Amino acid sequence: MSAPRFLGTGRCVPDRVVTNDELSEIVETSDEWIYSRTGVHSRHFATHESGLDLAEGAARQAIERAGISPEDIAVCLVGTCSPDRASPSTACRLQLRLGLPEDTICYDLNAACAGFLYGVRTAHALLADTSRPYALVIGVEVLSRMLDMQDRNTCIIFGDGAGAAVIRRDEEASWKCEFGTRGNETAIWVQGPGPEPSFIHMDGKPVFRFAIDVVEKCIRRLLAAEGCTLDEVDLVVCHQANARIIDHVVKKLRARPEQFFKNMETYGNTSAASIPIALAELDASGALKPGMRVLCVGFGSGLTWAGMLFRW
Ligand code: UT7
Repeated sequence: MSAPRFLGTGRCVPDRVVTNDELSEIVETSDEWIYSRTGVHSRHFATHESGLDLAEGAARQAIERAGISPEDIAVCLVGTCSPDRASPSTACRLQLRLGLPEDTICYDLNAACAGFLYGVRTAHALLADTSRPYALVIGVEVLSRMLDMQDRNTCIIFGDGAGAAVIRRDEEASWKCEFGTRGNETAIWVQGPGPEPSFIHMDGKPVFRFAIDVVEKCIRRLLAAEGCTLDEVDLVVCHQANARIIDHVVKKLRARPEQFFKNMETYGNTSAASIPIALAELDASGALKPGMRVLCVGFGSGLTWAGMLFRW
C-alpha cells in the first residue's frame, strides 16, 4: 500500500489579463456569450514570460511551501503540450534553474489536459526506488502561442499558466486512480513543429459530450473502487475546461454543486496546468486540510483522461 502525499503547491500566471470584452474586439463574440457558454470571464496570455518562467515560478512556490530543499528532489516531471522548445524538455531546463541535483529524473510528458495527473502517477511510481524522497510535478501551458485568434471556437476558452506540487510517497496511505485514452486524432489536435503556425483545432461538441460522460463514469468507478460515496468526498477538482461540463456532471451524479471546485472564470482552460493551479489556489486559501478526501479528474485531447481519489 502506498499513495502520493502532497506537501506543497504553487501557481504562476502571466501578468497580462485578457478579458472577454478584449476578445470581442478581435472575433465576433461577446462577454455574455463566452461567460454563459463556458464560465470564463478572463484569462492570462503570456507576453514576456516563457513556459519555463511560469513553471519555475510555480515550482519555487511549491518547494518553499513544502519546506524542502531542491537538493532533496529526485524526480521532476512537467506535463505540457505547449513547450517552449521541442528539445531540451522544460523539466531538463528546470534542473538548472532550480538547482536540482544532476541525477534528478527530469522529463516532460504530454497527456494534454490530464498531464498533471499522469505526472503524479508516474512520479509516485518512480519514487519507489530513488535515493531522495521528493518529486516535483508541474503542469504548464502557453496555449496562447497556439491559438488562431480568428477562430472563436478556441481562442475564447484557453489561457496560459502553471501549477506545481511537491509530493512524496506515503507508504501508509492508499489511493485509487485510473487512466485511459481512445486514440482519437480529430476532436482536438495540434500539428506540431513545421513551417506553418501550429494552431489548436477543436471540434467542441464531441469533446464536450466525451467530457461529461467520462468524468461521470470515472468518478463512479473511483468511488466504487474505494467503497465510498460522493458525500464522503470533501472536494472534487475537475479539469477547468468549461463550467457547463462540471454543471452537467453535478446534475448526473446528483451531487452538491459546492463540492465541485471552479476557477475557470479568471484562468480560462489552461490544459495541463488547470488541476495543479486549482489545487494550489485551494491549498493557499486553507480549503484543503490534511486527511481530506480529494477527487481529481482530467480529460482532453486524445481523448485522454485520468482520475485520482486520495487523501490530502
Ligand atoms: O481542455 C480540453 C477539453 N476541451 C473541452 O472540454 C472543450 C469542450 N467544448 C466546449 O467547451 C464547447 O463546445 C465550446 C465552448 C467550445 C463551444 O460551445 P458550444 O455550446 O458547443 O457552441 P457551438 O459550437 O455548438 O456553437 C453554438 C453557436 C453556433 O452558432 P449557430 O450555428 O447556432 O448559429 C456558433 O457559431 O454559437 C456560435 N459560437 C459563438 N458565438 C459567439 C461559437 N463560438 C462562439 C463565440 N461567440 N465564441
